[in-house]
Amino acid sequence: MTQEAHVTQQGPLTTEAGAPVADNQNSETAGVGGPVLVQDQLLLEKLAHFNRERIPERVVHARGAGAYGTFTVTRDVTQWTRAKFLSEVGKQTETFLRFSTVADSLGGADARRDPRGWALKFYTEEGNYDLVGNNTPVFFIRDAIKFPDFIHTQKRDPYTGSQEADNVWDFWGLSPESTHQVTWPFGDRGIPASYRHMNGYGSHTFQWNNEAGEVFWVKYHFKTDQGIKNLTQAEANTLAGEDPDSHQRDLRESIERGEFPTWTVQVQIMPDADAANYRFNPFDLTKVWPHEDYPPIEIGKLELNRNPENIFAEVEQSIFSPAHFVPGIGPSPDKMLQGRLFAYGDAHRYRVGINADHLPVNRPHATEARTNSRDGFLYDGRHKGAKNYEPNSFGGPFQTDRPLWQSSAVTGGTGNHATPSHSEDTDFVQAGDLYRLMSEDEKSRLIENLSGFIAKVSRDDIAERAIDNFRQADGDFGKRLEAAVQALRG
Ligand code: HEM
Repeated sequence: MTQEAHVTQQGPLTTEAGAPVADNQNSETAGVGGPVLVQDQLLLEKLAHFNRERIPERVVHARGAGAYGTFTVTRDVTQWTRAKFLSEVGKQTETFLRFSTVADSLGGADARRDPRGWALKFYTEEGNYDLVGNNTPVFFIRDAIKFPDFIHTQKRDPYTGSQEADNVWDFWGLSPESTHQVTWPFGDRGIPASYRHMNGYGSHTFQWNNEAGEVFWVKYHFKTDQGIKNLTQAEANTLAGEDPDSHQRDLRESIERGEFPTWTVQVQIMPDADAANYRFNPFDLTKVWPHEDYPPIEIGKLELNRNPENIFAEVEQSIFSPAHFVPGIGPSPDKMLQGRLFAYGDAHRYRVGINADHLPVNRPHATEARTNSRDGFLYDGRHKGAKNYEPNSFGGPFQTDRPLWQSSAVTGGTGNHATPSHSEDTDFVQAGDLYRLMSEDEKSRLIENLSGFIAKVSRDDIAERAIDNFRQADGDFGKRLEAAVQALRG
């Protein structure tokens, strides 16, 4: 650890109220060897504060590491979006990026086979813009209503208290739309060597809109300039045991050394008019847009260059929300994204509290938040005596009359509608494409990783249903997987 990271407080130790402490080794007793006194304010305060040191961990993505950085625009994108932080080549915006694993609880290990979270906050002059993605361009499901069930199968079983292969493969087998995403983490990229050696993706499709009010659909890609580097299952097993904080340590140490990791930022852009008839539903999170249809366009550079000074304050209490948009950027009708627009703010209010947005890491850095919301736990009085209602006649903040994003047309009546399928949409087509893109060696490792886990399933029907999804993606994929699972199960 570098010397600068140590901060020394000067002067005598005090109580929380600032009174000097005479003895921090011996609590106060009634006589020598007698019982402890309630008037020992220091003892009571220390024990009470200690009991309250933890806040609820994130229900997913509990383990993470973060760093501040700079985003620089390298291409003119004003034909597609009016977002000010993207308005000029060379323009720079401060960022904070939190990486994470998904399924493990806070006390787990970094070197796990699991997608990695990629939560990026841009502190723009029009408010904070959060992009809360993963290191994979797609996801396991396409409707937010399935998310709690999915995560229950990834977490500990209510009876055994452990993650159970039965639950994981039962859910995936019964949710064939997961086949594409499942193929990712069990392939080579399933265990990144570090957070620096992996890509990030916005995953969902978002709306960009320009000054003229034209709409474009956009997908974000962050390509690592360090090169993709992964761990084998055997390497990861050792590392997770020897150094559970391997990825967090690597990130911090590389920044301390002045080796700042960078990513090249690309977007795929779809004109609004293409969306209705594109061969895949562009708002289905289980699908990518093949690059031959919408080639990635390089628009910027992201560099991480400053470590947080206090992990609890800046990483544990950091909050990111897919609902944090800025003018020129908005949501798409992706049903997963729509559910997430609610879920994150709700999680923050529960986990960090109603004033979470105003902590130093979370508040806007390049502008200020001007709201009429007030009070609540740990309100800091920042509004002083300003009026707390709008409209008012005292020069208070006013509405702009200009929405951040353009409206989208809708059709039909209300109902529990499935995500519409476009001409080439099946649950398996892109999983098969991904498999066929792999080299022979990559395919072998994929089969080994998948079969090792499926072989742990206790019921044949659950294992068979899971294998059948891969068979439908590609006949060879299914055949090899079935043989490998049979060999392991005997
Ligand atoms: C509808 C589906 C989803 C729901 C309901 C959901 C819900 C949540 C919740 C409640 C948290 C914890 C937030 C907190 O306590 O601060 C979280 C964290 C996170 N989720 Fe999701 N999630 C969903 C899908 C996704 C998808 C599709 C992605 C990526 C493409 C994703 C990426 C993340 C990341 C990166 C974090 C960690 C954020 C951080 O570093 O603080 N989630 N999610």
